[in-house]
Amino acid sequence: MTQTQFANVSLIRHPLIQHKLTIMRKVETSTHKFRGLLQEISMLLAYEVTRDMPLSTVAIRTPVAQMNAPMLEGKKIVLVSILRAGQGIVDGMLRILPSARVGHIGLYREPKTHVVVEYYFKVPRDISERDVLLVDPMLATGNSAVAAVHRLKQTNPRSIKFVCLLAAPEGIRQMQEEHPDVPIFTAAVDEHLDEHGYIVPGLGDAGDRLFGTK
Ligand code: URA
Repeated sequence: MTQTQFANVSLIRHPLIQHKLTIMRKVETSTHKFRGLLQEISMLLAYEVTRDMPLSTVAIRTPVAQMNAPMLEGKKIVLVSILRAGQGIVDGMLRILPSARVGHIGLYREPKTHVVVEYYFKVPRDISERDVLLVDPMLATGNSAVAAVHRLKQTNPRSIKFVCLLAAPEGIRQMQEEHPDVPIFTAAVDEHLDEHGYIVPGLGDAGDRLFGTK
């Protein structure tokens, strides 16, 4: 994991992630393959972003001897998916964080104005005792991420990290302006947004590619 020129943005450069991301970007990659790769990358992202989870020591007995062994303390994570493409990341992360709780935020971008509208919000009741990993494959304009974080902050979680696959500089700047306290983790920072708000070179519409809706 390396810091970028943007404060508070960590680039996850693991070779497996970079390789899988390249295949996801290719226009000819099928929905089936795209979905599987997103799950695999999400497991690796979860591995990286949970590096700072606190451990405590418990006394256990192995078949051979007693020992004091490390275990995660509390394990109070909630994965919050920005619908709908965030769901692809949640599905992967749950494979290595099987006890995590899951929340959902439904937002859509008005195609012309790119203004964000919330249509669904459900998170665990005890979220104030939990650390949130807020996930969306694409940090594009930043409007959805910013709105999702605003909404989440109203529920007072212990902490929030934003995790994506691809980020555009425009989205990063927007997040940093509105939520400088929320660290961003991404597998790549691309060049810019096009006039439709798509990340260039990007991978297209993550939701359409994940669910095969185009
Ligand atoms: N959302 C996507 O799915 N793709 C982009 O490039 C930008 C936003």
